[in-house]
Amino acid sequence: MSALLEVEDLVAGYAGSRVLDGVSLSLDAGEAVTLLGRNGVGKTTCMETIMGLVKPSSGSVHVDGRDVTGRPPHVVSRSGVAIVPQGRRVFAPLTVEENLAIAARKSGEWSVKRVYELMPRLAERRSNLGSQLSGGEQQMLAIGRALLCSPRVMLLDEPSDGLAPTVVEQVGKILVDLAQTGLAILIVEQDLRLAFDVADRVVVMTKGQIVHESTVAEFRKDAARAQALLGVG
Ligand SMILES: Nc1ncnc2c1ncn2[C@@H]1O[C@H](COP(=O)(O)OP(=O)(O)OP(=O)(O)O)[C@@H](O)[C@H]1O
Ligand SMILES: [Mg+2]
Repeated sequence: MSALLEVEDLVAGYAGSRVLDGVSLSLDAGEAVTLLGRNGVGKTTCMETIMGLVKPSSGSVHVDGRDVTGRPPHVVSRSGVAIVPQGRRVFAPLTVEENLAIAARKSGEWSVKRVYELMPRLAERRSNLGSQLSGGEQQMLAIGRALLCSPRVMLLDEPSDGLAPTVVEQVGKILVDLAQTGLAILIVEQDLRLAFDVADRVVVMTKGQIVHESTVAEFRKDAARAQALLGVG
């Protein structure tokens, strides 16, 4: 098994409903892949199942050859995967600095200082409460928090959600910089410009299965296929 993240035939869902119906995808070290699909097809469930937040009923998740299928989130986190969840979920009553301090580890490549260097806006806002931040600042904080686990794979669930276009661009730049450091990125996005700026490869999910895989360049050339799969283009 050579991929850094290898998801095979994953089946998962919620009481009485099967959402993932045999999802397979893989991510190499340093690669950025965008997971696209219409609303409700199971993109968030896929990320949450990889992260151990939803238990799969079958299939497997390997990180760097290590089987983490169905393991709790802190074990998956230790194996090198971090999630930036849909809706960001920063702690509103805590300051930026406190939000980061909670996530900080004693060792690892990332420190609060390095997060501030990557996103100086967070340093400027370090004493502000989570509830006082703009959407873009909250997104940066959520990214910073994930980075403090010093992940090798970062899962991002709709980072552009609710952000103004100029802010989406700033978040995109941060993600492109991160991809260049060798971090592998799996990004779910509705904003295709952001998805295509960040990713090298596209996978498309419909009804709990991956139905298309190609490079971003190939996908962009085929507007009819994009329209059929996503209803856009
Ligand atoms: N906690 C839950 N309990 C029960 N059903 C859920 C739960 N979370 C999601 N679902 C259902 O699972 C299906 C897939 O949801 P999911 O959030 O994974 O889709 P998604 O592709 O991320 O959608 P969106 O584009 O709207 O974010 C939907 O039918 C949803 O209603
Ligand atoms: Mg979702």
